[in-house]
Amino acid sequence: MISIIGSGRVGSSIAFLCVSNAIDDVVLLNRTKDKAIGEALDIASAIPANSKFSIRGTDDYSEISESKIVVISASSSFYSESRTENLSSQVELIKEIAEKIKQHCPSAIVLVISNPLDVLTYYFQKTSDFHRFKVIGVASSLDTSRFRYFLSKKFSVPQSSVTNAIVLGEHGETMFPIFSGVTVDGKNLLSMIKDNERTLITYDVRNYWRKLRNHKSRSQFGIAKNTFDVIETIINKKEIFIPASVVLEGEYGEENVALGVPVKINNNGVSEIKNISLDEIESDLLKKSAEKVREDINSV
Ligand code: 2OP
Repeated sequence: MISIIGSGRVGSSIAFLCVSNAIDDVVLLNRTKDKAIGEALDIASAIPANSKFSIRGTDDYSEISESKIVVISASSSFYSESRTENLSSQVELIKEIAEKIKQHCPSAIVLVISNPLDVLTYYFQKTSDFHRFKVIGVASSLDTSRFRYFLSKKFSVPQSSVTNAIVLGEHGETMFPIFSGVTVDGKNLLSMIKDNERTLITYDVRNYWRKLRNHKSRSQFGIAKNTFDVIETIINKKEIFIPASVVLEGEYGEENVALGVPVKINNNGVSEIKNISLDEIESDLLKKSAEKVREDINSV
């Protein structure tokens, strides 16, 4: 069973992907019960005829007790300028949710996708005391999708021609794309791009969500698909290598923080934090990003 806490646009899009791909039963939970029931009823019409699975909506945490995975997409309120705008109320909310999940499904793997992503991943892990490899903040893979998108547009190639593109760090203002190692149509990206173009792409990746909001109220499908990929990996016992936020205990020289780093995920959660080599500039960016998240953690 997959439970999704928060049945707004993102939560319900994830539920839709899980249900229409028939990967497991889904429980959609919202504090407004009607909203959860309505979305679940709508999504239930997308259950394939040969599916063994179903979906239901609820506001009752006792219904999530069989969950293998719990996704947290709940929000206390809307933010417009910065993902950290509602920091205190979001931390309060994640602590409440962590207590409930600890009580009802202490063995679940938890995917945090609410913002501020890294701060909430950290507080969920500390409040629940779940093993840090069972608490995964999904967002750097979304930032990576955006990085790949810009590279494919810049070089007029399909995304399948772009390899090893990855974005690390905070899911926020200090995230940074790793340019070294990327190939485009088999050629080293560094030989094809100028410094000012790197700066521009970094800016565009960091501000993708803001530009998107000029056209629609908030992003939805990219995070839904990236979260679904992690769910599918866990349920179908596969393995993926993506950047995701985890609580660090010395990896990359950081602790007391959660941050987007390259990880391997299998059916048990994170199996390994991969230590990829970073050049001096990238190491410095990672340090700054960790400092920024730690500052936000300590400001609550
Ligand atoms: C996004 O990056 C706002 O975190 C959300 O689309």
